[in-house]
Amino acid sequence: MSIFRSDLAELKAAQVNVPFKKRMMCLNESCLDPFPQIRNSFINRMEKVHLNRYFSDGSAELRKALSTYVGAGLSEENLLWGNGADDILYHIFVAVRENDQSFALSLAPSYFDYKTFALAVGLKIRFLDLQEDFSFDTEAYIQKASDPNCRVAILCNPNNPTGNLFAREQLLTIIQALPDKLVVVDETYFEFSRASFVNELERHPNLVLVRSFSKAFSSAGLRFGYAISSPENIQELKKVFSTFHLSILTQSFVLSILENQQVFAEQIAMVLKQREDMLKRLEKLPSLIVYPSATNFLTLNLGDCSKVVFDNLKENEIAVRDVGAHPRLRNCLRVTISCPEDNNAFIDALKAFWG
Ligand SMILES: Cc1ncc(COP(=O)(O)O)c(C=O)c1O
Repeated sequence: MSIFRSDLAELKAAQVNVPFKKRMMCLNESCLDPFPQIRNSFINRMEKVHLNRYFSDGSAELRKALSTYVGAGLSEENLLWGNGADDILYHIFVAVRENDQSFALSLAPSYFDYKTFALAVGLKIRFLDLQEDFSFDTEAYIQKASDPNCRVAILCNPNNPTGNLFAREQLLTIIQALPDKLVVVDETYFEFSRASFVNELERHPNLVLVRSFSKAFSSAGLRFGYAISSPENIQELKKVFSTFHLSILTQSFVLSILENQQVFAEQIAMVLKQREDMLKRLEKLPSLIVYPSATNFLTLNLGDCSKVVFDNLKENEIAVRDVGAHPRLRNCLRVTISCPEDNNAFIDALKAFWG
């Protein structure tokens, strides 16, 4: 018998399964390294940090700044932060798991790591497949989520890797139909879609929103994400976190980001403009279908050429993501909107491929 949980024998350790190339367009990161632009603010803050001490005050300042950013009349009690949205999702799963039959419900295809984290904490996971146009059946979702063993229903909005936003009314119908179930809306790409359920939190005590600083705030390497929910839910979730789980350095950097929001607003505007530009240029290329997106990435269907194009891009030092594992996205690649130079190189490589 193993000294570890027996179901771990079937799992693999997490790894980043992408090519590392000069033009990284595979992980939906930002091409802006924010450090040079907010360096002074960060260094000023660092000089006041006492690394030898456990902390409390820094946290209070961050809570205030973050609640101001979130707005919607919410307060510090509505917030919980962690080392990336991933860390928040992981701990939500820890907090809801009741027994060996407990499961999470997700759409498919959706964010791959819902499955990774669910299995890591001993939670099962079930899926409802998206339809051909990337929408899904409301009643079928509610029916699956109504199973007493379903402990959390997750909706990624906009959805990764399809890029689409779901109809607001549809998600509201689901949230309303499941008052006794935790419903998580993953708003990791919120700053690109501007669609949020933050104004619904007061009406729906079962709702938790998850957000990230990895995308719009150009800080994937920093690891900062947060949950927004009722003070009661936040209190429950806090019970499964350790006391000092977010480094004082991360906290200082996040405060510097929030102090310099203009830098990121400009970057987001650039990404949105580049996204529309790329979409138009890709639509003109034969042999591919490009799907509309409310995120910082585009998903393309390249038919039978998808694997060859993926390799060809790699040879041209361009890394994109092969998202073709789910049948709904068969032959699809996902490309992150990057700086104009990377985006042009990507389009040029595609054009060269088709001669
Ligand atoms: C939908 C979705 N949720 C969560 C995450 C994880 O974000 P973080 O870097 O904040 O952990 C990602 C990252 O790609 C994502 O696409």
